[in-house]
Amino acid sequence: MGINHAAISGPKEAVIGRREDGALALSPIDQILVGRFACREFCNAPVPRQTIEQILRVARFAPSGANIQPWHVYVLAGAAKDRVSTALLDAHQNSRDEHISEYKYYASDLPDLYLKRRQEFGRLFYGSLGIAQIDLDARSRQTAKNYTFFGAPVGLIVTIDRRLEVGSWLDLGMFVQNVMLAAAGRGLQSCPQETFAKYHRILRRLLSIPDEQMVVCGISIGKAKAEGRETLMPRADIDEFATFQGFEL
Ligand SMILES: Cc1cc2nc3c(=O)[nH]c(=O)nc-3n(C[C@H](O)[C@H](O)[C@H](O)COP(=O)(O)O)c2cc1C
Repeated sequence: MGINHAAISGPKEAVIGRREDGALALSPIDQILVGRFACREFCNAPVPRQTIEQILRVARFAPSGANIQPWHVYVLAGAAKDRVSTALLDAHQNSRDEHISEYKYYASDLPDLYLKRRQEFGRLFYGSLGIAQIDLDARSRQTAKNYTFFGAPVGLIVTIDRRLEVGSWLDLGMFVQNVMLAAAGRGLQSCPQETFAKYHRILRRLLSIPDEQMVVCGISIGKAKAEGRETLMPRADIDEFATFQGFEL
């Protein structure tokens, strides 16, 4: 089954449904959830350290198995962020084949359902940027923007202790989502970025990341350049991923 575009024309309508009076029944947290999107163009208005501290202070209430809280973040702004950007842009330009992530994000053989969704992502994403999918130079220039944190004033590098198991990666994902939602609740947008994992050796050196920590992803945080934008990306409707049993109401 493909993606049901009729049900996902706009995230708010798609997710929430309508009340009897026709208004959208959005709870405050729903609004934050559907208002978050992977922002790839930030304005450079600074975000104070205190705001990031507040975001992390609430994000740490993410659940984790046995409450082991397996997250660690390196928070970068100003010259520290620029130093990382310069080094990673240089590597992306000159030595990208010498670097590889310590973990595999995507399966080599994506099952058809996910392959189709990835193709749809590529079509929408590069289409929105006016980049032909066969234009590898333009795609590489777009990838490079990851390393400037898309112009965001704050960049996080997220790591996990490599001695932990896959369950802890679930916990880490919840923490990452909490960071992004806490940011959205403060009028800030974010982008989670696995692209940083590739350059773990450089990041390790620049940020003094200990050997036992594995670089998982980055997160750019700042004010979106375009206010009021929604995600470009559709979502499959619930009948494509949920099976209900036993309900009487
Ligand atoms: C763990 C993770 C890693 C991601 N890595 C990147 C990345 O490296 N670069 C990028 O531009 N987007 C990245 N994304 C953003 C996804 O492309 C985006 O979340 C997805 O297309 C859905 O769009 P939305 O978040 O705007 O709803 C990542 C998302 C996740 C959850």
